[in-house]
Amino acid sequence: MILVTGGAGYIGSHTVLKLLERGFDVAVADNFINSKTKVIERMKKLAKRDFSFYETDVREKDQLDKIFSENKIDLVIHFAGLKAPGESVDKPLEYYANNLDSTIALTCAMNEHGVFKLVFSSSAAVYDLRSDMPLDEASPTGNCANPYGRSKRMCEQILTDAVNANKLRSVALLRYFNPIGAHESGQIGEDPQDTPNNLMPYITQTAVGRRSRLYVYGNDYDTPDGTGVRDYIHVEDLAAGHIAAIEYLENNHGVSVFNLGAGKGVSVMELICAFEKASGVEIKTEFAARRPGDSPICYASVDKAKTLLGWEAKKTIAEACADSWRWQKSNPNGY
Ligand code: UD1
Repeated sequence: MILVTGGAGYIGSHTVLKLLERGFDVAVADNFINSKTKVIERMKKLAKRDFSFYETDVREKDQLDKIFSENKIDLVIHFAGLKAPGESVDKPLEYYANNLDSTIALTCAMNEHGVFKLVFSSSAAVYDLRSDMPLDEASPTGNCANPYGRSKRMCEQILTDAVNANKLRSVALLRYFNPIGAHESGQIGEDPQDTPNNLMPYITQTAVGRRSRLYVYGNDYDTPDGTGVRDYIHVEDLAAGHIAAIEYLENNHGVSVFNLGAGKGVSVMELICAFEKASGVEIKTEFAARRPGDSPICYASVDKAKTLLGWEAKKTIAEACADSWRWQKSNPNGY
């Protein structure tokens, strides 16, 4: 059985659904700090399967002991954590406390209960974004733009030390680029609790009328159209990347690092155009100042995942836009 922490969140829920569809038994732990209870029912309905759910903060040792005692867990996927780069600048202590403590508590509980395989949700934010693009797994890390990125990098280091000390045996550090899209049913998707920080939910909320216009942060970057370039990956492809990582950990011990991206740079304006085309809705945009901490360009080299995991992103930006729109249109106010 696989324990998924943060399994009610955006990437977590798509991954749980895919695990259930592929026949894995799953237990989910989530405290709904950035997700809604409704997603649990929807996952069960879509998968036509049940799974155990624990409403808990992963830092609660008693709760972790209960989960590991009640289920025969073979592997953990650790999604739970705070993830807004901007917010992390104002609340660094919350970010370090949450992201580091949950990772440490989980690792200790895994060790005590004899569970040695972990897939960890990391981020492109761990890289030094002044490096040459594309970023590969050997690109320099550190000099992160915000405490969020630093907290992820610190977790990677903690997990690496734990493996070196034989506290864990097999760890995959998955560095996500920019997830977009939603499940094709339109039943599960990204549902930010407040004003969206990320581009795609801001686009879809503008399209559905919840926001008056989209502010494009910077049109004077040294990029083909002056707007920021990112590596957008469909969340379903990202979810599939976790299955590939689980299979990889069957036969590979130690720490393995993989970029999960599409391997292609797309600008803010290109994404907006693709969305307008897919949805038939015009997005009112306004150019605004650059957002502090943003890098002009960030995209991945995904050769390592392709070679070692036999995985690559398959869905197009057009499909991702259509899926994000289906989700937002069917759920204008989220879950
Ligand atoms: C950031 C984090 C990444 C994290 C992701 C999801 C860094 C370096 N990157 O990615 O690790 O996983 O958030 O939380 O910390 N934009 C607009 N208008 C908007 C919103 C965004 O123009 O309203 C632009 C941004 O300037 C950027 C692009 O859209 O060029 C993507 O922004 P965003 O979706 O926030 O993702 P990142 O900043 O790349």
